[in-house]
Amino acid sequence: MSRGREAPPAMSNVTDEFNAITEHFSPRVIAMANGQYFKLAKFKGEFPFHAHADEDEFFLVHRGEFTMCYRDREVVLKTGDFHVVPRGVEHRPRATEEAWVMFVEPAATKHTGDAETEFTKSIEQQTAHLQT
Ligand code: NI
Repeated sequence: MSRGREAPPAMSNVTDEFNAITEHFSPRVIAMANGQYFKLAKFKGEFPFHAHADEDEFFLVHRGEFTMCYRDREVVLKTGDFHVVPRGVEHRPRATEEAWVMFVEPAATKHTGDAETEFTKSIEQQTAHLQT
């Protein structure tokens, strides 16, 4: 829904956005809608276990495959598969080969949850390319 005064933003392409990513597990915010960030990341290797107390996380595999690991099970996600990590549940993504993944979470969510890790990127880092 347009507010009328603002011109709609230009169309963007998700593959172009992925191609701009140079680091693994470094989220790139591509859009914000209704308080949710739409983020892209290239997964490769193993991310630390973490949880988000109050937020669910939606994941969609654009290219490749990865495994969402829980403490008691694993969910294998291939190109086109999507999955929701429930709030409060510990999880970590693992990818043997590089996977291109979109995920959606509230703007306030830290991508490493309550864990401060070597992978942690601030929201300023995740949106740096938008601030021109
Ligand atoms: Ni998470």
